[in-house]
Amino acid sequence: MAGIGDTVFAMTEWIRTTPMVDFALWLSTKEICEWVQSHSFMVPILQMIHIFAIAMGFGSVVLFNLRLVGRGGTDTTVTQSAHRYLPWMKWSLLVLFISGVGMVLGDPVRLLVNPVFWIKIVLFVVAMIVSIVHLKTVSRKTKTSPTWDATTSGSIAIRSSAYGLIILWLLIMAGGRFMAYAPM
Ligand code: HEM
Repeated sequence: MAGIGDTVFAMTEWIRTTPMVDFALWLSTKEICEWVQSHSFMVPILQMIHIFAIAMGFGSVVLFNLRLVGRGGTDTTVTQSAHRYLPWMKWSLLVLFISGVGMVLGDPVRLLVNPVFWIKIVLFVVAMIVSIVHLKTVSRKTKTSPTWDATTSGSIAIRSSAYGLIILWLLIMAGGRFMAYAPM
């Protein structure tokens, strides 16, 4: 663990040599940041919304991908499962992004110089790219093969990205929680 702590601390030291510090200080003087900071109920409300969106998003990611690997919801076709869970997934990502930006505006200096925040954002971008490729592949397969749509589980490639997406969300959540404990 000491090794990870040292690495994260070294990353903080590096971020401090970049223009990110000046940007965070500049941002913290902006009216929107001062407004969020001067209304003490705002950050807890944003955190609450963030946590609700995590539950909604992660719940739909798990249930949809368990269908793809044949470990849940196999009484429905992949298309039916997609219609049921994808809207929740999409809306939760939007709410996570907006509430996340809101929390950053509440404390830009602490968060934008925090390496765990940036590790989380990189994982978030990777999860978005994997999700888009994954869903495009699934949608193409359901359109070209009705039997596949009704099958119990997908190919190795689809099962790997299904499990991979669940693990990516778990890592993003761990990052979200550890942000407050990063050695700064
Ligand atoms: C899949 C998407 C995401 C997941 C699963 C996620 C998960 C989490 C979790 C579990 C926490 C800790 C909540 C707590 O214990 O209070 C958190 C906090 C936070 N997240 Fe996210 N998050 C996501 C996306 C984002 C995005 C896109 C941003 C920024 C644009 C963001 C910014 C933050 C911030 C600023 C905090 C508060 C950290 C602190 O104050 O220490 N999150 N997130």
